[in-house]
Amino acid sequence: MNKPTPLVAGNWKMNGHANSLAEFEALETLVSEKGTASCDVLICPPYTLVAAMASGAKGPVAVGAQDCHFEVSGAHTGDISADMLKDAGASYIIVGHSERRADHAETDEIVLSKAKAVHANGLVAIVCVGETEAQREAGKTEEIVLGQLANSLPAEATPDNSIVAYEPVWAIGTGKTPTTADVAEIHTAIRSALVERFGTAGKMFKLLYGGSVKASNAGELMVAENVNGALVGGASLKAHDFDGIIDAYR
Ligand code: PGA
Repeated sequence: MNKPTPLVAGNWKMNGHANSLAEFEALETLVSEKGTASCDVLICPPYTLVAAMASGAKGPVAVGAQDCHFEVSGAHTGDISADMLKDAGASYIIVGHSERRADHAETDEIVLSKAKAVHANGLVAIVCVGETEAQREAGKTEEIVLGQLANSLPAEATPDNSIVAYEPVWAIGTGKTPTTADVAEIHTAIRSALVERFGTAGKMFKLLYGGSVKASNAGELMVAENVNGALVGGASLKAHDFDGIIDAYR
C-alpha cells in the first residue's frame, strides 16, 4: 500500500513584508540544490504577499494562504475568497487554524464552509484541529480532535483535496511539544477515523503535526506513526531554519 507523500508547510502568520520575498527565494534555492527527496514543500505567507510570491515562484516550493472567506464574493469588508486566492496563485489554503478559531470565533461549521469553498476552487484545504491545554488535562484530547475532524472536514474530502493538521493549541509558539508517542497516538486515532469515514482512501490523507516544530525536534516528530509532515509557524520564517526541518525527509 502506498503512503501519503509528506508535506512540510510553513505558516508565516502575520509576518513578512515585500523584502521577505528574498527569504522565499533563498528557500527555493536551498530546496533546489539539496532536493527534498521525499516531501513536498509549501509556504503560506500573509495575503499581501501571495500574488508576488506565487508569480515569482520557480517550482520547488508551492504557495498557499492562511485562511479564506466561504463566499465567492460580496459585501464582506476585509475578507478574501478562495476564488481570489486561486486567482493570486495560491494552491493550498489553511482553514480552521486555532488562532482563527480563537481570535475570530470560527466554529466547526464555519471551517467546514471554508473547506468547501477551497474545494470548489480546486485547491487543497489544510484543515486544522487540536485541543487546548485544559482539554488535554481533562483527558478530552481525542474527543475534541475527532469531533473537530468530523465537523470541519467536508464529506467531499479526498486525499487530493484535503490535508489534516493536528496542532495542539498549547504547543503552538510555546516551545512545548507532545512526546512522539503522544503524537503517534492521536495521529493514529485520526487515521482510524478517516478510514472509518472514507474507506481505504482514508489511508492516503496527509496528516501533519504542528506546534513548535523546529530543526532540532523534526527528526523525532516526523517519524511518529501516521505523521506525514509538519505545519510550521515560527521556524518557517527563515529559509535556513525551515530547510533544517525539511532535512527530516532527506
Ligand atoms: P509554531 O506554529 O510552529 O510557531 O508553534 C505552528 C502553527 O501555528 O501552525
